[in-house]
Amino acid sequence: MKTPSLDLLIFIIIILSLAGGSHAAASGGAWQLLQRSTGVSAMHMQLLHNDRVIIFDRTDFGPSNISLPGGKCRHDDRDTVLKVDCTAHSVEYDVVGNTFRPLMILTDTWCSSGTVHPDGYLVQTGGFNDGDTAVRTIQPCTDVGGSCDWSEIPNGLAVRRWYASNQILPDGRAIIVGGRRQFNYEFYPKSNGAAGGANYIPLRFLVETRDNPEENNLYPFTHLNIDGNLFIFANNRAILLNYKTNTVVRTYPPMPGGDPRNYPSTGSSVLLPIRPHSKEAEVLVCGGAPKGSFDKASKYGTFVAALDTCGRIRITDESPSWAMETMPTSRTMGDMVLLPSGLEVLIVNGVASGTAGWELGRNPVVTPVVYRHFNPAGRRFAVQAAASRPRLYHSSAVLVRDGRVLVGGSNPHVYYNFSGVEYPTDLSLEAYSPEYLGEEYSELRARLIILGDEVIMYLKYASSVRLRFSVRELSKSGVSVTMVAPAFATHSFSMNQRLLFLESGRPAPVDGNYYEIVAVAPESGLLAPPGYYMMFLVNGGVPCEEGIWVHIQ
Ligand SMILES: *[C@@H]1O[C@H](CO)[C@@H](O)[C@H](O)[C@H]1NC(C)=O
Ligand SMILES: *[C@@H]1O[C@H](CO)[C@@H](O)[C@H](O)[C@H]1NC(C)=O
Repeated sequence: MKTPSLDLLIFIIIILSLAGGSHAAASGGAWQLLQRSTGVSAMHMQLLHNDRVIIFDRTDFGPSNISLPGGKCRHDDRDTVLKVDCTAHSVEYDVVGNTFRPLMILTDTWCSSGTVHPDGYLVQTGGFNDGDTAVRTIQPCTDVGGSCDWSEIPNGLAVRRWYASNQILPDGRAIIVGGRRQFNYEFYPKSNGAAGGANYIPLRFLVETRDNPEENNLYPFTHLNIDGNLFIFANNRAILLNYKTNTVVRTYPPMPGGDPRNYPSTGSSVLLPIRPHSKEAEVLVCGGAPKGSFDKASKYGTFVAALDTCGRIRITDESPSWAMETMPTSRTMGDMVLLPSGLEVLIVNGVASGTAGWELGRNPVVTPVVYRHFNPAGRRFAVQAAASRPRLYHSSAVLVRDGRVLVGGSNPHVYYNFSGVEYPTDLSLEAYSPEYLGEEYSELRARLIILGDEVIMYLKYASSVRLRFSVRELSKSGVSVTMVAPAFATHSFSMNQRLLFLESGRPAPVDGNYYEIVAVAPESGLLAPPGYYMMFLVNGGVPCEEGIWVHIQ
């Protein structure tokens, strides 16, 4: 047996005391309606480092509920619904101001994917019809009123990508995996600058994991392992791929039970928080729908109970195995969000029966649950406060810098249908405030003090970071520093979602009113691919008032 280092032991002790002690007065969090209508339904959401969330759905939903700015219209002969469309299918939501403005998408983004480039702009790939090989970018801008908008690189992809998953790599490129009838992967940007068929790499695993006809391996769960290889989960099993040599370096056993977890079964997955100097990484996969659910719902109107299990696996093990756990409720189409405390995974949205796909979900689950991964098995799940709105197919959830989770979307219909349907298209945006934002934790909620006038901290790998903060009560159970990558959320999977605990010392008092803590940035891009992250100080399990944006390279 390997002997864990003393640092690691101390870290684990701190974490266990945090996990056990800090949530005695359970309130289950709180919901707040931010916008009754943002004009579009939040099929896709991405937070950028200007604290704006790019929200979009698809261009062929017919008219949305918000006009393009300045009387603009989109003329597109290839659009399947409207050849001339004067409505917007994307908006930029300003988290701080709680305002939004329409943006103009040029081609169809339906069921597409994305990553944030290390320089901070969104790189968004694929979709349907006229957009299926497009790469789109949008810069973060902060000018009043905002001027930045979508731009397109036609045929930026080698092949069409519809229901693919992306992951940002240590070298700053994105890998784009799979998609409907695509049993391969590619990179963006291309290293040789050339386009076309030579630029994608076959992946047999995607052939092997495809159920016929319902697929169940779309939007594969992709996570960058800490050894630089790519963990890919599709259907009910996973591989570890060395994408540089196109070799499968590890094959994971099928998840017990054998049921599928990817679209249209649509469970969700996260890479659990990564500890400093750890040689271990774990993946959690939760929910989904039993095999055959799509068929039963679409052909016979039978809505099968969704899966109520999660599988957890140490992906770094030589001979890994799944540990199964049971959730408080069945859930398909749940979104999993890593909370900045590093102690909890939020599971929100979705339904208890049926499956993903048009009109195929029933029994919305409006209560989120948190999963406390450091707790012993059997004591990990806790049901949280109920939302008032059902969020079914095409809903999403993203973490923002103040520790809230923005929740939007839900449109199980082919068009925008606001009446005469069981689950009307939802254009609203809500904030879920996890329990740690409650009044009862205000003594523990630290405030980070920005030194100088830099609002973004620029870090090099392995460099030290000094954080100054004020707080009323320094928790005896310890202070930690976490770093969270802003994820691309769509179809119940948050691509690039990643949380790292930083190695840190003990806080020391300075100037009478403050404390300082010194942390060490992650060692390399294998742990934290280059780009922008939100950094949080966590006191007794409670994240600071507002995290700060850091950039690492
Ligand atoms: C459409 O937008 C208007 C405001 O512009 C709003 O009053 C209305 O509720 C929205 N409709 C839906 C269904 O969200
Ligand atoms: C939604 O609206 C469209 C067009 O307005 C209509 O054709 C369609 O039947 C509606 N869908 C449902 C499920 O009612």
